[in-house]
Amino acid sequence: MTHRILILGGTTEARQLAGKLAAGADCLVTLSLAGRTESPVAQGVPVRTGGFGGADGLAAHLRETGIDLLIDATHPYAAQISANAAQAARMAGVPVLALRRPGWEPVEGDRWTQVDTTGDAVQALGPAPRHVFLALGRQEVAAFEAAPQHHYLIRSVDPVEPKLAVPDATYLLARGPFRETEERALLEKHRIDAVVSKNSGGEATYGKIAAARAVGIEVVMVRRPALPDVPSAETVEALAAIVNQFGVDHFL
Ligand SMILES: NC(=O)c1ccc[n+]([C@@H]2O[C@H](COP(=O)([O-])OP(=O)(O)OC[C@H]3O[C@@H](n4cnc5c(N)ncnc54)[C@H](OP(=O)(O)O)[C@@H]3O)[C@@H](O)[C@H]2O)c1
Repeated sequence: MTHRILILGGTTEARQLAGKLAAGADCLVTLSLAGRTESPVAQGVPVRTGGFGGADGLAAHLRETGIDLLIDATHPYAAQISANAAQAARMAGVPVLALRRPGWEPVEGDRWTQVDTTGDAVQALGPAPRHVFLALGRQEVAAFEAAPQHHYLIRSVDPVEPKLAVPDATYLLARGPFRETEERALLEKHRIDAVVSKNSGGEATYGKIAAARAVGIEVVMVRRPALPDVPSAETVEALAAIVNQFGVDHFL
């Protein structure tokens, strides 16, 4: 019997997981994207795009499309859709699994200041002008207009529009992964003395954290939001193994 799996994505891991599960003979995999990125990379499986309309909308979608298993493989800072996934799965009586990539831990030589929100990150930079690398999503950088005294380097996948209302900001368009040697060259070129980052975990964006350690500068690390407690695995391989080992029927 064919099983329908819906993967909530928007991450490299979601795409990899979709590929792995779609290769199984009895799985029909669809990947769901929020539609934030203007030209997302090819996903390799059927994709649906756009919000569902809250937990109610997602529950209705699960019922209407006969989904047998929901997998939340969204980014660790996408807390709303993760909460919706847990709630919708309960409402629709569909099992849910989550891919929860572990966060980074500080190691010797790191100079991290950990804060709860981007607003707190603005405060943590202090009043004196600094050269700050904002390695954040384009939705989050607006908070830094509250501290126009700093010089900003802002990197994003899509252009930041409107531009920040600050006197000095340099914009860089790039899509990871980013290696430590290149990140170090970037920090040095722009004389960066603070990096503001989310604790994304994984390898693809760790380069800037390692580079900041190597050149001895501060990282203002925005802590992860709270996520719902659902059965989860830390890696693509582990989650695919759970699904393949037990089969979708196991979760029904
Ligand atoms: N936040 C980050 O730092 C970050 C980084 C890299 C990638 N991403 C990816 O970008 C997407 C948006 O992130 P966000 O932080 O804006 O999310 P969010 O705040 O948790 O979600 C806001 C709303 O966007 C819709 N949505 C989010 N992810 C979706 C998905 N995979 N499929 C369909 N609808 C989705 C939902 O709308 P409805 O309520 O209408 O269903 C959700 O309520 C996520 O898919 C995430 O994996 C986020």
